[in-house]
Amino acid sequence: MIKILPTISTTFIALSAICVAVGWYYIRARNQEAHKKWMLVGSLFATIFFIIYVSRTIFVGNTLFGGPDSIKVIYQIFLIFHIVLATVAAVMGIVTLTHAFKKRFAKHKKIGPWTAIIWFATAITGVTVYTLLYLIYPGNTTASMIKVILGF
Ligand code: HEM
Repeated sequence: MIKILPTISTTFIALSAICVAVGWYYIRARNQEAHKKWMLVGSLFATIFFIIYVSRTIFVGNTLFGGPDSIKVIYQIFLIFHIVLATVAAVMGIVTLTHAFKKRFAKHKKIGPWTAIIWFATAITGVTVYTLLYLIYPGNTTASMIKVILGF
């Protein structure tokens, strides 16, 4: 039950990035309706990811890295990089959506590609963290968020 949650939430990040890529393709093809629909579904998937992730952190805790000490620090730096990207992507996503709904399309068009690119980077680094933590070096033990991120 506990292990299935990170798999589901990581799937939602990946699906969300695919929706954003399809949404970008549609606006390049000048299909505004399809762009809007795909971007909203992408935002919904990102929100589902976030809800699962936060509930897991509160009720279960985060998973400790199970790999060798020699790469632990590299893993932790990579994890922090991913968390920073995810936070920036979330804030930029809200700004991008707000510009769209208020019909400030010039501003939306300026920030939209950056939001999408940071979103893709978040998804790629997120899937990498998942692969390291659950597939290559399964740790199995959970700990507080601070210990998982900073190592103490
Ligand atoms: C977080 C979600 C969204 C992202 C990441 C996003 C991203 C983008 C991107 C990358 C472009 C193309 C810029 C270019 O290549 O020139 C764009 C344009 C556009 N988007 Fe979005 N978008 C999002 C949500 C929405 C929503 C919900 C709407 C409708 C309410 C919308 C309406 C438009 C329109 C009308 C344009 C064309 C603007 C123009 O050509 O002047 N977008 N968006």
